[in-house]
Amino acid sequence: MTPATNKTLLTASGINKTFPGVQALSDVQFDLKEGEVHALVGENGAGKSTLVCIIAGVERSDSGQMHVYGQPYQPQGRADAERHGIRMVMQELHLIANLTVAENIFIERLPSRFGFIDYQKLNRAAREIMQEVGLGDIDPSVPVRSLGVGQQQMVEIAAGLSQSCRILALDEPTASLTDKEIELLFGQIEKLKAQGVGIIYISHRIEEVIHIADRVTVLRDGKVVSTRPTSQLKITDIIRMMVGRDLQHEHLRGAGEVGKVALCVEGLTLGDKVKDVSFEVCRGEILGFAGLMGSGRTETMRALFGADHAEAGQIYLHGSSAPAKIRNPHDAVRNAMAFLTEDRKGQGLLPALAVRENISLARLRDLCRFGFINTSEERAVARQYIDALSVRCASTEQTVSELSGGNQQKVVIAKWIFRDSDILIFDEPTRGIDVGAKFEIYHKLADLAEKGKAIIFVSSDLKELMAVCDRIAVMSAGRLVATFSRDEWSQEKIMSAAFSEYVTG
Ligand SMILES: Nc1ncnc2c1ncn2[C@@H]1O[C@H](COP(=O)(O)OP(=O)(O)OP(=O)(O)O)[C@@H](O)[C@H]1O
Ligand SMILES: [Mg+2]
Repeated sequence: MTPATNKTLLTASGINKTFPGVQALSDVQFDLKEGEVHALVGENGAGKSTLVCIIAGVERSDSGQMHVYGQPYQPQGRADAERHGIRMVMQELHLIANLTVAENIFIERLPSRFGFIDYQKLNRAAREIMQEVGLGDIDPSVPVRSLGVGQQQMVEIAAGLSQSCRILALDEPTASLTDKEIELLFGQIEKLKAQGVGIIYISHRIEEVIHIADRVTVLRDGKVVSTRPTSQLKITDIIRMMVGRDLQHEHLRGAGEVGKVALCVEGLTLGDKVKDVSFEVCRGEILGFAGLMGSGRTETMRALFGADHAEAGQIYLHGSSAPAKIRNPHDAVRNAMAFLTEDRKGQGLLPALAVRENISLARLRDLCRFGFINTSEERAVARQYIDALSVRCASTEQTVSELSGGNQQKVVIAKWIFRDSDILIFDEPTRGIDVGAKFEIYHKLADLAEKGKAIIFVSSDLKELMAVCDRIAVMSAGRLVATFSRDEWSQEKIMSAAFSEYVTG
């Protein structure tokens, strides 16, 4: 797969970057060739985003040199980097929720006629680009906020791909995508490679990196551990370099004791998103939800939690024979339910507050004495979770917006675990989390189940569902089409169930 030319596009050497309390990068060397995919991997907080932000002009390094085609390169900002043909698709979603899909894609160069935006032209051009990334059935004139996180991510990628460039940096483009969209994205990457574009690719999915990248650079604590051709590496080699040890994949969970039914859902229906969905989760059980993007998993959870209003269906909680009344999330929380949403930016975190405050937010009452927040206890709790989940931060007082993407996600998880609810819904909890930390989260979920909690685990990563769940429910086009127990499931069975309603429908 190595391109014919092999000309060096970009070199960066001796790059240093310090943020208050942390050396994010130290003496980093990196280079990129024409038509090459160069992957950057490393644990949460290793410095991956910081490095591409420096290359794409979003951040400035403290010291070090960069060259593009041998010419000194010192971008004065993002726009300047783009003038040099260097673009990046950022890790966090940066779409403007109220603008349409098409407007977001072309935000910087809206086609106009006589001073007015030419919407016909705009939508037509957007539709073409979206078709290429597999979003052909989405109307480009709908506002972005009406899309799910995975689809928003595809729009963001489409925006990045829509402009010509020499270097494209993709910071975790596939974190919210399922296999189908990943394949489409890889098709686009192959096309760009063939045109000689150099691609910097950040991902926590090591299988993906082995598949798509020509070379891999492993970062640890802001330093380059190694840069090697992918052909010389196995997944285990990369993981060892990232975390400094081997990870045990199998047997995360034995057959545990499953208790009484904690949640029973009957005939839940919401438009064409959720169609007559029924299932049960017991205390001490982890029930996985698999399915393609847009199959209705998140919508089911939202309806269950009272965030959207179901048109039909009953929910029975904690063994009661009377249906529960859950009209809004407040009712759900009162009924000892918790929901970790897939959209941490929109709903999970208050980025301007400290790590400590974010963790305690959902349970402030327990930390108050005579109406005052007991800050030292709050700090102790935060410290405990920071240690348990290895959140990389300067202190409990650091604002969450300063943490790396994966570490922000860990704070969301800490917050909901600390709430101590009986029924926990986790929607893509390991999005953007590195392999080592993922395992800490799986163990945490297993612990919670062991303590008698009922857990619903929605994920696009089949392997992780198969590693921790007791049963896996599969959704397809709004229906719950199959539920498999551990001794019944296989990757093939789950995938064919996930596609079933689309094939016959
Ligand atoms: N604006 C900032 N202020 C303070 N510290 C920051 C800031 N941006 C990043 N950092 C710190 O720099 C370090 C590297 O962060 P970076 O975002 O590059 O990590 P990453 O490798 O992309 O991690 P992830 O896999 O979680 O996305 C982290 O310790 C992070 O907390
Ligand atoms: Mg990052």
